[in-house]
Amino acid sequence: MPAITLDNITEAVINHGDKGKTNPRLHEIYSSLVKHLHAFQREVNLTTEELEIGRQFLFKLATPNQDFPMGEITLMTDCLGISETCVLLADDKNHGHGTTEMNVEGPLYFGALPERQQGDLIGEIVAGEKPLFVTHTVQDKNGKPLANAIVDVWQPNGEGHYYVQRENLPEWNFYARFRTDANGKLHFRTVVPGDYPVPTSGPTGSMLEQLGRHGYRACHIHYMIHAEGHPDFTTMMYFNHSPYVDSDTIFSVKDFRVDITQHDDAAEIAAKGLDRAFYTLDYTFVVP
Ligand SMILES: [Fe+2]
Repeated sequence: MPAITLDNITEAVINHGDKGKTNPRLHEIYSSLVKHLHAFQREVNLTTEELEIGRQFLFKLATPNQDFPMGEITLMTDCLGISETCVLLADDKNHGHGTTEMNVEGPLYFGALPERQQGDLIGEIVAGEKPLFVTHTVQDKNGKPLANAIVDVWQPNGEGHYYVQRENLPEWNFYARFRTDANGKLHFRTVVPGDYPVPTSGPTGSMLEQLGRHGYRACHIHYMIHAEGHPDFTTMMYFNHSPYVDSDTIFSVKDFRVDITQHDDAAEIAAKGLDRAFYTLDYTFVVP
């Protein structure tokens, strides 16, 4: 190996080893990562002191804290747009061709959600929350309705809290599993979900603060659809009324945004047995 210089150190690191004989894909990823990291150091003229600050930051990211028992590495990859870039790459190859766009699962899906019946209310409606009547159809790319598809739905309440985040919320509040009927339809009652901030008590939060970034997610409902003969499909439905719909902190809002219709006619409200205006929305999922 020749004397190491600023001009040859990157190649020296990449070629140190069997150059991908043992694990070609790892070597491909590793080589590109080393190339980009060294280029980044050159570009900002990174000092040893700044590198040490970076190391300490990574240690903190990996350390459990009150909001993240596994540390915050996932949150950081979300806030850097890295998670969403992977979704966009996968969507470009597999989906998005006349199908509903996919999205990340997020950290609050727990599987085996409680089965509910068509029309059920899926959580507790409390003061100030906006009742929402949702209707969906699940169909394939040819417009064929998919009967008996399992549709998992999960969302925060109107204040933006998932049930696991507040001790006073009932178990499985606004988490539900439905099956589509013979016409690929399902309908249920919920509330308009609240916008919520990602937890910002840790190192990711301090980074956002020092960059002048807000930590809010635009309000959304999560879905996971299992239809026989189709790949499992995960997505998030966003709402145009959210003030954060154009500045979501994990960059996950794309074209899947819906409008809700407000109903404030007294007779209509009474007919629903409600004491306040309610909202409706109807959306057809086209699964890949
Ligand atoms: Fe969410």
